[in-house]
Amino acid sequence: TGGLITLDPGFKNTGSCESAITFLNGEEGILRYRGYSIEDLAEKASFLEVAYLLIFGELPSQKELDKFYGDIKEESHVDEEMKKILDGFPKTAHPMGVLSSLTSALIAFNPSSVNVESEEDMYKAIVKLIAKFPVLVAWTLRKRNSKPLDYGDSSLNYVDNILKMMFKKPNEEYKVNPKVSEALNKLLILHADHEQNCSTSTVRIVGSSHAGLFASISAGISALWGPLHGGANQAVIEMLEGIKEDGGDTKKFMEKAKDKEDPFRLMGFGHRVYKNFDPRAKIIKKSADDVLGDLGVEDPVLDIAKGLEKEALEDDYFVKRKLYPNVDFYSGIIYRALGIPTEMFTVMFALGRLPGWIAQWREMRLKKEPIGRPRQVYTGENHRDFKDIEKR
Ligand code: SDX
Repeated sequence: TGGLITLDPGFKNTGSCESAITFLNGEEGILRYRGYSIEDLAEKASFLEVAYLLIFGELPSQKELDKFYGDIKEESHVDEEMKKILDGFPKTAHPMGVLSSLTSALIAFNPSSVNVESEEDMYKAIVKLIAKFPVLVAWTLRKRNSKPLDYGDSSLNYVDNILKMMFKKPNEEYKVNPKVSEALNKLLILHADHEQNCSTSTVRIVGSSHAGLFASISAGISALWGPLHGGANQAVIEMLEGIKEDGGDTKKFMEKAKDKEDPFRLMGFGHRVYKNFDPRAKIIKKSADDVLGDLGVEDPVLDIAKGLEKEALEDDYFVKRKLYPNVDFYSGIIYRALGIPTEMFTVMFALGRLPGWIAQWREMRLKKEPIGRPRQVYTGENHRDFKDIEKR
């Protein structure tokens, strides 16, 4: 129904899978989480409601949401010894490497979250991770800024609490800015899941060996780090800054992007599945205008980004290859306006994607899927007799 495909049984155990969580239609630019359109969810839901929807399959009642958040708040402490691990990193360490390491290190302090077999134990592991992950994200940022490491404030909602942990100044009360909260809430929802992308497939295949939720998510963070995947949001801003420094000549960069010799990629453009437009990019582009306007932020790279998009949409090379802005093209402009440093952009992507990764891991485990075992087409040598080294 709705253009869904049913996989040939031969696809089983190859990393491809059947899933009921997220539906994409790349031709029509449709993205739905458990049947709800991304446009509705981004406008009307909280990130925690969307996390609950992705993981458990239904939008929560108020009672269910209150219990979920209550369980999360119970688990929002991170062992103090974890700070010693964080201290071991140089300030220059890339935050994605730090976050992947700290997520894996959580296992040592939460051993009961490893061999989870029952749905109840899975729930406990899920709540622990949803509670502690934002603390690790905030600690990673504060360490880079030489700020004291803080815990959350359970009187705030999930997203406001994240912002407070990230940005609270040591000697000042943290004031919630509803515009900033709304912008981050929307960005996190838009990144929350995306079917079987590179990092989600990584989470599923690592999880299929029963390595445990935290280890699977740590692997997913590493996969997301790559500039062809989530790392693109950082690469986009670096690219736009480069164009600005170079005098803002977008035409020159467009030509470069076609030069096969120097396969400079127009970062934030193109997608394996979306071949007309990425619905998330449309929402984020509009949100960028709103957020910068609300916050009174002038950012010249927004105009450069819009100029690049306009040229690409009119350029045969890009149109023929169906290359359009993807989720990463405008998101960094908003993160920057919210005061998030460039090297933390992919960490913010991971923060948004966490519930999707968890939902996909839980689905795979509840369905008792066998260990993933992709097959290959062998293209190497036929049998050869061994040769002693003297004869080689
Ligand atoms: C994400 O899978 C997901 O769902 C991922 C994601 C999610 O939510 O999880 O949506 C998040 O990863 C978004 C993508 C972020 N990455 C980037 O923005 C990096 C730049 N984009 C490209 O690396 C590329 O477009 C990919 C990796 C995103 C998609 O690669 P494809 O589909 O394999 O495209 P391709 O490499 O087969 O390229 C087809 C043609 C090639 O030219 P020809 O060989 O046909 O002449 O298009 C060209 C490519 O050279 N091309 C580009 C280009 N992307 C593809 N040329 C210039 N700039 C680009 N960005």
